[in-house]
Amino acid sequence: MDSAGLNRLYVQEWADTSVSPCRVSVPIEASSESTSVRAFSTDTIQLRGAVRPMCGIIGHIGTRDALKTLLTGLENLEYRGYDSAGIAIQNGAGIAVEKRSGEVDELKASVADSSIDGSVGIGHTRWSTHGPPTDANAHPHTTADVAVVHNGIIENYAELRERLQEHGCRFTSETDTEVIPHLIQQYIDDGYGSERAFRLAIDELEGSYAVAAMIADEKTLYATRKGSPLVVGLEDDACFLASDVPAFLEYTDDVVFLEDGDVVIADKYGVEITDLAGNPVVRQPETVDWDPEQAGKGTYDHFMLKEINEQPTSLAQAIEGRIEPERGTIDLERFGPGTFTDVDSVQLIACGTSYHAALYGAFALRGAGVEATAVLANEYRVAAPPIDERTLVIAVTQSGETADTLRALDCATDEGATTLAVTNVVGSTAARKADEALFIRAGPEIGVAATKTFSSQVALLLVLAQRITADLGAEPVADAHKLLEALDELPAAVESILEGDEAGKIAKRFQQSHAYFFIGRGLGYPVALEGALKFKEITYEHAEGFASGELKHGPLALVSPHTPVFVVLGGQEDEKTLKNAKEAQTRGAPVVAICPPNHQATEVADAHLPIPETHDVLAGLLANVQLQLVAYHAADQLNRPIDKPRNLAKSVTVE
Ligand code: F6R
Repeated sequence: MDSAGLNRLYVQEWADTSVSPCRVSVPIEASSESTSVRAFSTDTIQLRGAVRPMCGIIGHIGTRDALKTLLTGLENLEYRGYDSAGIAIQNGAGIAVEKRSGEVDELKASVADSSIDGSVGIGHTRWSTHGPPTDANAHPHTTADVAVVHNGIIENYAELRERLQEHGCRFTSETDTEVIPHLIQQYIDDGYGSERAFRLAIDELEGSYAVAAMIADEKTLYATRKGSPLVVGLEDDACFLASDVPAFLEYTDDVVFLEDGDVVIADKYGVEITDLAGNPVVRQPETVDWDPEQAGKGTYDHFMLKEINEQPTSLAQAIEGRIEPERGTIDLERFGPGTFTDVDSVQLIACGTSYHAALYGAFALRGAGVEATAVLANEYRVAAPPIDERTLVIAVTQSGETADTLRALDCATDEGATTLAVTNVVGSTAARKADEALFIRAGPEIGVAATKTFSSQVALLLVLAQRITADLGAEPVADAHKLLEALDELPAAVESILEGDEAGKIAKRFQQSHAYFFIGRGLGYPVALEGALKFKEITYEHAEGFASGELKHGPLALVSPHTPVFVVLGGQEDEKTLKNAKEAQTRGAPVVAICPPNHQATEVADAHLPIPETHDVLAGLLANVQLQLVAYHAADQLNRPIDKPRNLAKSVTVE
């Protein structure tokens, strides 16, 4: 034990002359060793955290060239999307800062011939919220002695800024972030040591943040988080700070996932984690078993296409070990038989694509006689159905960091509900906030448009629905055995869709259309919504999803020969849905049926996207794979930036 009562995990002489000799220590439990976490397989851990829309933090202290390491880290975080980038590096007598709006490549070009030389630094990719994407608004933000990068929102920045300005501070940006270096500077000027100044400054912040800071001439990084993820990467001779593991994965897979309120001091003596008051906290280092290659595009042109094609594997992982079709049994980790006997009703809360998965899950539960509703998480506080301690609230969120969903989860907890997170991210805020978590094991999803995580959410929600209905003695979602068998065959069914080439041809055929409509009934309805969302977000074309029966109540006015209508079939009351499609067809709209090859719709429709025969409950999931492909090819033919659509973030951590 050291003086702080902590074990030193890493003890290493560093060769670098600038920071040598030194040791890296991490507070861990006395007897513990680094735990191994199998990433994205059976005990999945999702490595993408989420900060405010699209921002990314990287920090490095060690023996490497900081400039190169930070730029690589920023490139690794590019998938999150951003509009400006910057770095700050301890560079001999002071901090060298370079930042600019635009791509990391532009930042790289601007420092290509620089003489910046140091091994300690911080970097950032910014997505603008307070102030446009200008060089001045890009991070790091600095004062005479302090450089700071920040993800999140400082809610009380206006009053802090006013106070600091009254004390003579001159602001050079429109950002909320800039108050942080000024606060730290002020405390330093008042005579406090750097660490104390950092803690005092952080104590003044309201809102959500992950912050990394550096003080001129100090080979130390200071960092903290509240509501925005921050992870520490540990190497024998280096330490990394990042908003997401891929930032440093090529250097180390030993990570510490920080919790809200943790403060990290990384210097030549080690990495120390405390609370804001300075009391040591115990954080278990974990080894993530993820090949950096997994996060690459491989032979695919886009992450989205890669992720669509990964669905046979990700679906297999979602259900692996959880269902036994032969015996008709379900084994959902902690959710054994009897877990949900105290539940009167189920509410699923989610946003965007996850909301569509939640609608799918709610429909399956209701079909089995369980009272279940999907509610948009951002509407939940104002429009939640009645909640009590017999309500099970399921937060469906791939990232586990969506602010709307987290706030709704808080609301459910406050009302006394039992909460469960269905997420892709071990260690995410949702997983930690909820009473329990169930992981979809989809693996890293880098493309902004959610694809494989939707499929895995749906598959897992269907398995969960079986467990809940069995516990409540309700009618199983469908014939339980048959559904489990069909789930077991799902990866192969998706594989057969991926082998086809129909989606690309359909996208080409309707390329000149004015708008794209998607309709479905029952489980086809959330798929219609999801088909339209996927299409619009990556093609930028007008696309809308409707319940097929709603078409005649208004949207039909929009239908013309230039508005193809995609019809999701293969589920419930197909004949009615087909009738609705024909109403559009009569008005000249080309109808594209998504259904098995021998379905009656193929005789009526103008075009056909085939899906294999499957259980009714799974037809929508398969249809959605075809719609993902149509959206992808349509966007590709339009040459859109598919993995990073304009204005969108992979995870949205503001309400
Ligand atoms: C669309 C998409 C978003 C997310 C939504 C919720 O392709 O990805 O609509 O589904 O922002 O995100 P999570 O699931 O992380 O809560």
